[in-house]
Amino acid sequence: MIILGIETSCDDTAASVLNGEKNHLTILSHLISSQMTTLKKYGGVVPEVAARQHVTNIIPTIKAALELASVKPAMIGAIAVTAGPGLITALRVGVQTAKTLAYAWNKKLIGLNHIEGHIYASWHKNPNLKFPALCLVVSGGHTQLILMKGHDNYRLIGQTRDDAAGEAFDKVAKLLNIGYPGGPRIQKLAQKGNQARFNFPRPMLKEKNYDFSFSGLKTAVLYFVKKEIAAKKLPLNDIYDICASFQQAMVDCLVEKTIKAAQDLKIKSIILAGGVAANLPLRQQLESSVKTYLKGVSFTTPPFELCTDNASMIAIAGYYHAKRKHFSDWKTLEPDPNWELV
Ligand code: KG4
Ligand code: ZN
Repeated sequence: MIILGIETSCDDTAASVLNGEKNHLTILSHLISSQMTTLKKYGGVVPEVAARQHVTNIIPTIKAALELASVKPAMIGAIAVTAGPGLITALRVGVQTAKTLAYAWNKKLIGLNHIEGHIYASWHKNPNLKFPALCLVVSGGHTQLILMKGHDNYRLIGQTRDDAAGEAFDKVAKLLNIGYPGGPRIQKLAQKGNQARFNFPRPMLKEKNYDFSFSGLKTAVLYFVKKEIAAKKLPLNDIYDICASFQQAMVDCLVEKTIKAAQDLKIKSIILAGGVAANLPLRQQLESSVKTYLKGVSFTTPPFELCTDNASMIAIAGYYHAKRKHFSDWKTLEPDPNWELV
């Protein structure tokens, strides 16, 4: 079955075409029209600007994705679209477009949760992932540990009590004035830094729960930077060391809590998902900790291009919904900016 995936929950307009046959998934096209240059001007996402860009980009992006895949509308089995969570102005463009195409082309429609899309990106190359799986979802808006006992069977195990991991990366990058989005910038500068130089806090590690908290960590960086800037110094080397020390504190918190939850819950697979899953030190440390502390447990994370927001992950999740005949009604599907998966 061929699935057209559409994603417009935040600042990227994305369209992908996927062919799924008996769990064998092939991405035929994967396009992202990024608003990065527009948003750089504002230092972040401005909902109204994002929505206008989506309106401009959505049809050309879908048209190009279909052409690249050599797929005609008649060949499409279903249209999968992100219906939430996200910015309402942005979601509305994708959902309305998907509804219109589903009506005009007489196609099945699937309204999907964005976080479910992030999780399902791992099924692209691993159709036989074993349950129960523990998903660490780390993105710009979410930091959650989700227990997945089967398809469509999710339970929230822990989550951040304040900032999401990606949000903390972005805020620290902003106060260091190193650009947006913060995660990739911090990772790059951290390569030149000493991660042991600053002993930033690792909040909640000793607590007997699976929750996270990153605002204290962010504030610790803020105090240090303010003090240094007041003294009119913050040499490049300090920025490298702050990036490396901050990133290491984040990675330690995420990895330790995930391993602890996996041990307690006796799970069979660990899935790392969301934009922050693109962080190389996080991928490496989690993978090696799974090998060391969780014998017989598999570790899966999508390739980099499927970690940050994209439409292939929506098409993949859509394929698994279509297999179970979970479809939405185009007359009633509406975007829900606050739709939580769990
Ligand atoms: O999943 P995503 O693309 O969008 C949301 O659903 O929020 O995640 C975006 C977040 C941003 O906060 C960005 O800074 C972070 O993912 N991110 C990274 C890296 N690449 C993207 N964080 C750390 N290291 C990276 N390499
Ligand atoms: Zn996302």
